[in-house]
Amino acid sequence: MDGNGRWALKRGLPRFEGHNRGADSVREVTRACRRLGVRALTLYAFSEQNWNRPVAEVASLMALLRRYLLEERAEIMENDIRLTTIGRTSRLPDSVADPLQELIRDSAGNRSMDLCLALSYGGQEEIGDAVRRLMHQVARGELDPDSVDEERIGRLLWSAHLPPLDLLIRTSGELRLSNFMLWQAAYSELFFTKTLWPDFGEDDLKEALDAFRHRERRFGRTDEQVEVLLQAND
Ligand code: IPE
Ligand code: MG
Repeated sequence: MDGNGRWALKRGLPRFEGHNRGADSVREVTRACRRLGVRALTLYAFSEQNWNRPVAEVASLMALLRRYLLEERAEIMENDIRLTTIGRTSRLPDSVADPLQELIRDSAGNRSMDLCLALSYGGQEEIGDAVRRLMHQVARGELDPDSVDEERIGRLLWSAHLPPLDLLIRTSGELRLSNFMLWQAAYSELFFTKTLWPDFGEDDLKEALDAFRHRERRFGRTDEQVEVLLQAND
């Protein structure tokens, strides 16, 4: 969800106004996903690297996050949405961690959609964490190194509870992944838009989903093989 700062700057507003408006986009996009039947939505809200921003900006983002968790709680529960997180959430201040843990706990039985917040998240950190856990299992003699395969690694990732990542959307014109779901994005379709996150709404989401629908996903196979597989599924 990139471009909040530039959105504000263009209007001569402080950066936190961009983040405020970004929270409106979060609400609109989450509602649209729920209505359209998207099974899981992961929002890159705060990266591990974002801790390096000025103290005042980090504080305003944490305050916004707390407000979001308190204000959206009722709607998340009413809509049967399960809230989860990926990332080093132990770094979050109590003012965020408390309402976050409460909502995670209370929404754990919800089934209609997964809303996952990437908080203090980094893709390399996620993979590093999995590697470390595997090393400890090997060191304790619980795991044969030869049995480490991609599936086992995937099961140790923070995102293990999520379905495969189909579509990755990046706003604000940047053409990079910035440490987001590096492992999971191996075969994801990528959608880049110049739209700044506070301007991104339901129409933009539909445009991205429409583009996704027209992509041919081959997973390393040939075009002909994919045609045969698709016909077999009809
Ligand atoms: C994304 O907007 C929000 C967060 C990283 C929390 P930015 O703050 O990165 O906006 P730009 O890139 O400065 O426009
Ligand atoms: Mg940015």
